[in-house]
Amino acid sequence: QGNPANQPPNVPDWTRSLGEGVVARPYGKPSSYESVVIRRDVEWLTASRESSVSFTPLHALDGMITPNGLCFERHHAGIAEVDPADYRLILHGLVDKPLIFTLDDIKRMPRVSRAYFCECAANSGMEWRGAQLNGCQYTHGMVHCVMYTGVPLKTLLDEAGVKPNAKWLLLEGGDSAAMTRSLPMQKALDDVLIAYRMNGEMLYPENGYPVRAVIPGWEANMWVKWLRRIELGDQPWHHREETSKYTDLLENGKARRFTYVMDAKSVITNPSPQAPINHKSGFTVLSGLAWSGRGKIARVDVSLDGGRNWQTAKLDGPIFDKALTRFYYEFDWDGRELLLQSRAMDETGYVQPSKSELRKVRGVNSIYHNNGIQTWQLHKNGEVENVEIS
Ligand code: MTE
Ligand code: CO
Repeated sequence: QGNPANQPPNVPDWTRSLGEGVVARPYGKPSSYESVVIRRDVEWLTASRESSVSFTPLHALDGMITPNGLCFERHHAGIAEVDPADYRLILHGLVDKPLIFTLDDIKRMPRVSRAYFCECAANSGMEWRGAQLNGCQYTHGMVHCVMYTGVPLKTLLDEAGVKPNAKWLLLEGGDSAAMTRSLPMQKALDDVLIAYRMNGEMLYPENGYPVRAVIPGWEANMWVKWLRRIELGDQPWHHREETSKYTDLLENGKARRFTYVMDAKSVITNPSPQAPINHKSGFTVLSGLAWSGRGKIARVDVSLDGGRNWQTAKLDGPIFDKALTRFYYEFDWDGRELLLQSRAMDETGYVQPSKSELRKVRGVNSIYHNNGIQTWQLHKNGEVENVEIS
């Protein structure tokens, strides 16, 4: 493997001459040898790239934070390029004093920094009817977890003064989709952030620069990007994204609505179809991610035999509320075929269901809120395949 001239006992090329100086790369990038670690899309999934999705390469990452440049993207009308000088956030409706904030106004206010996962309700949606996409990037990659910095929405509401009959908020995006969602007042006053930074940097354009809503634990569709308007009202608005979309059609023809919370879920990221095992057998670190919209992850179990026997995995901190949580399970692989599964439990006692348990309750009409247990078949040659077992 590689070039023997660069390997011991020889002195490699990079030791023989000076390297590039500082600021050769004023904005750092990963090594060119890591160029396969990128967001990817599935071309047949959507008719255009403006209303589409790219997926986080979960199989190529570790820890619980997603690097900014690798966060999955979901746009309904492409990326809005907002000039921060012209950025305004309008707050009106059932308030004592309607307000318009500039970006500087927002940045001047008391702020907090919190890490949260952000998961599209359609994550794993293609898997409702059976195993389909080969790779956790595609089956589970509509999730990312970054450290947001922003102002609690409550601070802005206090500034404007909430009228007693205000029960709902409308969040509207500044992109040409003008994404709009209704948000209950209770959540708005609880932990919603008006965020402008991710992992310390200003938000990237793809993720809503300069300001987005962060709705911890709730479906990502509500995390309105390029946020331009918040209206207070006494009832929900019943817009497109909460009627014809982001509702869960059941077997009996009725649809669940306002299904905000993302239930506990997990996935083994390594090994997985894009990350096979390259050693023949022996000591193996299995790793994955777990998360819950209801709080902290309490425990993750791993099965090597398709759910017959379960062992408890090691959670590797930090373990934050409504954030991705990393788990590891170390074992000696005897080189036999295995059926790998992981099962998350959160601090409320909720246990991630199997796909058949989920379908019993929800049928197969839905594409949203699929948090069923994923199965990877590990073949003797170390390759991994997306399968379903009954
Ligand atoms: N906000 C606006 N303004 N426009 C959009 O198209 N897409 C929503 C949400 N907020 C969207 C938006 C959906 S469906 C998801 S899954 C998340 O943004 C994706 O956030 P991300 O692109 O930062 O991953
Ligand atoms: Co979405």
